[in-house]
Amino acid sequence: MDLESFFKDNGYCPNKYSKDIGEIQTFASTHYAQKNKIVLVTSGGTAIPLESQAVRYIENFSSGHRGAASAEYFLSEGYGVIFLYRQGSLRPYSRHFKAGNVLDLLTISKDCRNGTCSNVQVDATKMPDLATIVQAYHTSKDAGRLLEVSYHSLVDYIALLKASSEAMHLLGSSAVFYLAAAVSDFYIPLTHMQKHKIQSSSGPLELALHQVPKFLRALVTKWSPQAFVVTFKLETDEAILMDKALGALTKYGHQLVIANILHERRYRVVVVTKEEQKELLLSDDEQKEKKDIEQKLIRDICIRHTHYNKGTEV
Ligand code: PMT
Repeated sequence: MDLESFFKDNGYCPNKYSKDIGEIQTFASTHYAQKNKIVLVTSGGTAIPLESQAVRYIENFSSGHRGAASAEYFLSEGYGVIFLYRQGSLRPYSRHFKAGNVLDLLTISKDCRNGTCSNVQVDATKMPDLATIVQAYHTSKDAGRLLEVSYHSLVDYIALLKASSEAMHLLGSSAVFYLAAAVSDFYIPLTHMQKHKIQSSSGPLELALHQVPKFLRALVTKWSPQAFVVTFKLETDEAILMDKALGALTKYGHQLVIANILHERRYRVVVVTKEEQKELLLSDDEQKEKKDIEQKLIRDICIRHTHYNKGTEV
């Protein structure tokens, strides 16, 4: 199935994305003019609606941690970052507040508790790296190096990925695609959906899901053909992981696959090229210190991208 048919099948409405696409185009052309490198980071899952006035969706496990953490490390490496994320999933910098309740960091003085006082203070002792996080966030934002764009459904994701890829075309090999989102491989066409909420009184539910076309080929060959493209391969069975990762490289002809196993993904990834498989690991101590595997991963990718951009070996 081609992309046009897929869009038609999903009730694609181009006007819905005009504002986001305008911002993406401005971001890409500004960084092009400034001779900066930019990366599109995709992050989080996709929602597959079951009804056309959707009450229920098919979802997946992705929290957006990989994408949000990676965006921060790309920013610290000097890249401009378009962060295309699933609404409600983790975001760069604010992800650090998700472990606890942000209200526990805030205090008001006792005499203000009658509701008339607006003097709220931050107790930074409860989060020692708070100032560093806030500073890094504002530095990236003030420099115009972070653009966050959200999506909800599969069709939103693909429409915005296509628009971003086309906008980034002009950056040639200075552009990186880092496709960490867990994109659904299946969907229900609009014409096959019930209009109203599916009734449980009708008994057990049988669904026929159609296959989503692999848009990666279009990205690599048409939308942004000179870019450095990094995809992910997630499996639960180690025995098939490397074959699948190498198969993806052969099939799409892009530069890198990052292979990961579901339950190991926070401390182990394998960087796969046609020539090499390089394992990156967090030691036990690094895990105790709550280090991010993404710090090692993004360093490795940036070195490879620099070589690629200069026309030397990846
Ligand atoms: O978000 P976290 O909880 O931190 O988890 C991180 C992660 C496990 C989601 C991440 O590390 C990861 O592996 N993401 C990709 C998972 C995935 O969708 O793998 P896949 O084998 O289904 O897809 C492989 C690649 O093909 C992906 O890079 C995707 O962008 C691309 N794809 C997928 C579907 C589709 N229809 N077209 C595609 O081009």
